[in-house]
Amino acid sequence: MIGSKYLIFSVASLLVALVKASDDVVNCNATTGACPDDKPCCSQYGVCGSGSYCLGGCNPQFSYNMSACMPMPICKNSQTIFDGYSGKMMNQYEYLGDAEKNDWIYEGSIADYDDENALLLTMPKNSAGAVISSTRYMWYGKVGARMKSSHRQGVVTAFIMFSSVQDEIDYEFVGDNLTNVQTNYYFEGTLNWTHSTNVSVSDTYENYHLYEVDWHEDHVDWVVNGEISRTLNKNETYNATSGEYMFPQTPARVQISLWPGGNSTNPIGTRSWAGGDIDWDAPDIEDPGYYYAVLESVNITCYDPPSGTSKNGSRAYKYTNSKNFTQAGVAITNDTTVMGSLSDSGFNPENGKSSSSSSSSSSSSKASSSSSKTSSSSGSKSSSTKSGSSKSSSNAGTTTASSATSASGFVQNMKSSSASASGSSTATSTGGAGSFSNPIGTNGLMHVVVAFAGAALALAY
Ligand SMILES: *[C@@H]1O[C@H](CO)[C@@H](O)[C@H](O)[C@H]1NC(C)=O
Ligand SMILES: *[C@@H]1O[C@H](CO)[C@@H](O)[C@H](O)[C@H]1NC(C)=O
Ligand SMILES: *[C@@H]1O[C@H](CO)[C@@H](O)[C@H](O)[C@H]1NC(C)=O
Ligand SMILES: *[C@@H]1O[C@H](CO)[C@@H](O)[C@H](O)[C@H]1NC(C)=O
Ligand SMILES: *[C@@H]1O[C@H](CO)[C@@H](O)[C@H](O)[C@H]1NC(C)=O
Ligand SMILES: *[C@@H]1O[C@H](CO)[C@@H](O)[C@H](O)[C@H]1NC(C)=O
Ligand SMILES: *[C@@H]1O[C@H](CO)[C@@H](O)[C@H](O)[C@H]1NC(C)=O
Ligand SMILES: *[C@@H]1O[C@H](CO)[C@@H](O)[C@H](O)[C@H]1NC(C)=O
Ligand SMILES: *[C@@H]1O[C@H](CO)[C@@H](O)[C@H](O)[C@H]1NC(C)=O
Ligand SMILES: *[C@@H]1O[C@H](CO)[C@@H](O)[C@H](O)[C@H]1NC(C)=O
Ligand SMILES: *[C@@H]1O[C@H](CO)[C@@H](O)[C@H](O)[C@H]1NC(C)=O
Ligand SMILES: *[C@@H]1O[C@H](CO)[C@@H](O)[C@H](O)[C@H]1NC(C)=O
Repeated sequence: MIGSKYLIFSVASLLVALVKASDDVVNCNATTGACPDDKPCCSQYGVCGSGSYCLGGCNPQFSYNMSACMPMPICKNSQTIFDGYSGKMMNQYEYLGDAEKNDWIYEGSIADYDDENALLLTMPKNSAGAVISSTRYMWYGKVGARMKSSHRQGVVTAFIMFSSVQDEIDYEFVGDNLTNVQTNYYFEGTLNWTHSTNVSVSDTYENYHLYEVDWHEDHVDWVVNGEISRTLNKNETYNATSGEYMFPQTPARVQISLWPGGNSTNPIGTRSWAGGDIDWDAPDIEDPGYYYAVLESVNITCYDPPSGTSKNGSRAYKYTNSKNFTQAGVAITNDTTVMGSLSDSGFNPENGKSSSSSSSSSSSSKASSSSSKTSSSSGSKSSSTKSGSSKSSSNAGTTTASSATSASGFVQNMKSSSASASGSSTATSTGGAGSFSNPIGTNGLMHVVVAFAGAALALAY
């Protein structure tokens, strides 16, 4: 019914970055191929760089080679209650990969919601919203989030699992229909509209619900408020041509996001999937000053890796077969997941460490990380958030240009991502997913780069 009139995009997560404009961007995807050795890592959004680009979401398929991406922190059981939590989260562009110290990282703008002992993902006027990501990967397991979606047309909330090779398991909340949550899945970014289903639920904006993904090697259950709403069996996903199961099967991070699917700068198909154009003058934009989704808690329970997995250690997952990005190509190692500085990659993770006191990149990363602390703690202070004057909270945890400029490795990376703003518009079966980005000029100096994930975007062409 969708037919060739639309390109359907799998989208993996929402990336928000306020960055200095720049043109020297190198893309990486199935069409353009792999990254060059000086920007070896292919980010989740299909842009080459180092530092953050080599951490969460780094795609080994289109990186310079498989060792460019840092090994992925292994799953660990956890329960996070997001009460007064914004100050504990690091900005994704300052995080160096230490999952022992950071369970969650963020992009965009977040704030504490003291009235409900929860975290707000916020989306001020004309912004790109927010995304939080687990630092650890889950390779089969159960993850549950107690949350409230945002609301109104054009406003999309998502709770997804997203792997580095773009396997994906999703819940998507489209704000014009608060009694419906969409489920979906992708194998290596392969887009297929028919994989989406609807689950009926009481008002997702007014009520907390418990959304769970129970992910086993041979099936996935989507469980809403304790009831199995959908089951996908691996054996139903077999592709006889490729001899592969088109089933999500690689280590994946947990991501929760809020993004403006209905922004007027998006393609018509996206806006229409999102329920129509977003109203940037809606009451929420007046008070509290932004659209928001509310995250109360997330539990993660890890299951065993597939039997037969190659194991030499217990710290990280790592892709080991450059021709096979299914679960058969994943090993468990003791390799470090931590970089020394934001100019490192998987080739030289310890670079910044050896000279941390004198290296400029590591001192500048310190500067930017302290500026982020300031902004997120101003967020956590704002108990008035969401109920009154909330100027300060709308800045909370926002990636700012000044923090970007203060860090050299950081700026390098941001430049890359801003240039990705040329926008992609080809649906492919591998790698195209999640690399969709939009050019958005907020003013002469700044660009906002947005990549969507966790949703199926229909793009008219
Ligand atoms: C990847 O490239 C780096 C840098 O050229 C090199 O040091 C490393 O040995 C390569 N790794 C593999 C697996 O080819
Ligand atoms: C949304 O659209 C407005 C123009 O209406 C633009 O200024 C803004 O940058 C866009 N924001 C995003 C995140 O797409
Ligand atoms: C997390 O686990 C605790 C303890 O079992 C439970 O009380 C809570 O409801 C769970 N929360 C989620 C989001 O699953
Ligand atoms: C929400 O979506 C469901 C599933 O498509 C549909 O049955 C229902 O009528 C929709 N409700 C509204 C208010 O659009
Ligand atoms: C989409 O998925 C369905 C069910 O898995 C399958 O029958 C169909 O061939 C797929 N379509 C494409 C274009 O891959
Ligand atoms: C799910 O609901 C949305 C919104 O109501 C609708 O557009 C879509 O076609 C539905 N999908 C399925 C598979 O029924
Ligand atoms: C797929 O697996 C499920 C659960 O193990 C089983 O009930 C079903 O019969 C299998 N289907 C096929 C086509 O093998
Ligand atoms: C099966 O795999 C082949 C080869 O990778 C691919 O061209 C085809 O689209 C896949 N079929 C489906 C239904 O996805
Ligand atoms: C296992 O890892 C250690 C370092 O942690 C390394 O020295 C050893 O060679 C590895 N063994 C295998 C079989 O890869
Ligand atoms: C991996 O590291 C842990 C913690 O440092 C250590 O206890 C274990 O022996 C290491 N395993 C291997 C195979 O090197
Ligand atoms: C990857 O390895 C698995 C297990 O050996 C195999 O079934 C699958 O066909 C392989 N895929 C590719 C693309 O080589
Ligand atoms: C790859 O990136 C180029 C440059 O941005 C873009 O034109 C192309 O559409 C992308 N291809 C895919 C498959 O995403």
